[in-house]
Amino acid sequence: MSKVLIIGAGGVGRVVAYKCAQHRDVFGDIMLASRTKKKCDAIADAIYRKYGGRKIKTARLDADYPEQTIALIQKFKPDLVINVALPYQDLPIMDACLETGVHYLDTANYEPKDVAKFEYSWQWAYRERYQQKGIMALLGCGFDPGVTGIFTAYAAKHYFDEIHYLDIVDANAGSHGKAFATNFNPEINIREVTQRGKYWENGQWVETEPHAIWKDINYPEIGPRRSYLIYHEELESLVKNFPTLKRARFWMTFSEQYLTHLRVIQNIGMASIEPIRYKGVDIVPLQFLKAVLPPPESLGENYTGFTSIGCRIRGIKDGRERTYYVWNNCSHQAAYEETGTQAVSYTTGVPAMIGARLMLQGIWSGKGVFNVEEFDPDPFMERLNLDGLPWHEQFDIDLEMD
Ligand SMILES: NC(=O)c1ccc[n+]([C@@H]2O[C@H](COP(=O)([O-])OP(=O)(O)OC[C@H]3O[C@@H](n4cnc5c(N)ncnc54)[C@H](OP(=O)(O)O)[C@@H]3O)[C@@H](O)[C@H]2O)c1
Repeated sequence: MSKVLIIGAGGVGRVVAYKCAQHRDVFGDIMLASRTKKKCDAIADAIYRKYGGRKIKTARLDADYPEQTIALIQKFKPDLVINVALPYQDLPIMDACLETGVHYLDTANYEPKDVAKFEYSWQWAYRERYQQKGIMALLGCGFDPGVTGIFTAYAAKHYFDEIHYLDIVDANAGSHGKAFATNFNPEINIREVTQRGKYWENGQWVETEPHAIWKDINYPEIGPRRSYLIYHEELESLVKNFPTLKRARFWMTFSEQYLTHLRVIQNIGMASIEPIRYKGVDIVPLQFLKAVLPPPESLGENYTGFTSIGCRIRGIKDGRERTYYVWNNCSHQAAYEETGTQAVSYTTGVPAMIGARLMLQGIWSGKGVFNVEEFDPDPFMERLNLDGLPWHEQFDIDLEMD
């Protein structure tokens, strides 16, 4: 039985805590720590009411300060830290794990607070120090990044000699009944979707204006949805780990209503991360906006419909071209009934628990800093079916991805 410290008590942290509590044979002792302790307590109480057993411990922690995380790790002595706070906390938490010799896992790559830019370089730079310390960091173990990398590795292992074209297709065809809300942390989400588009083609990155390229893609059980080419962090590690890729792109659905709100938010300056002085106080407009938008964890109750995330792959097997599509559809309502939050948090939290489980059982092990596609995908794919995210596959179909 292992001890796990979960940092961050938002929508994703809630799901990770629920899912770990369902597997007490592996996660014997669980602590949930976050900036606002009462959120941790509310989650721990809800889990105790639902499953009974050994109550989850809680703590207040500001993970921007490695010394606070180090002190908590020294007190609780976890075998693994699951970081589902914000990408800003990745490096300070990695520092604390390095200092204390504890394994690390996260679901989103580091972003500096003052530049809306995400890339792996900062975290990959810890590789040697993690190797020397004999510990493992698993980066980007949510759904996307996360399962999308595992789907790609699974396809490459079982069905292709070489994969050439990868399109990650991400639809949220759910309806939460709010005029405008984001499905995960609004600040991080708006920073991500307002970036310039970027994809990999013939050995180089091609950049586009935001949302300049789109197509109507058919999603299983959902139908056609307008999907926009955006840059997404797993592309960076996937083109490195699968060098046969000639092209790699990421598509995400946005409704016209969402994009109209987003345009207004940008046009009036509310998406800015430059601090402004207001009544003698420095405030960041995007952080203020986050404070007035519905928190993602509040969307669950009336959320209907599905998410559908998958990989559409074209490549070569035995000298012949073939296509492959692997995906998961997740119901917002089913996610809410199980964990009290919606499918976007659920599809992130379940893979984080599975990655943690494989690490703690020694099924995925190593010294250094890794992305998920570097490990054997089979045990992870098996667990997805058991832990609430069943997947489906189709072969030799029209992928609709010219
Ligand atoms: N890979 C994927 O598929 C995927 C998909 C969605 C999200 N994500 C990632 O998952 C993470 C969590 O997302 P979410 O939707 O759960 O966000 P959220 O609802 O905003 O939750 C974030 C939590 O982190 C806490 N936190 C923030 N700063 C902290 C600090 N300095 N120290 C300790 N705790 C801190 C927050 O505390 P307060 O409650 O006090 O604000 C909050 O409880 C994000 O990094 C996001 O990018 C990954």
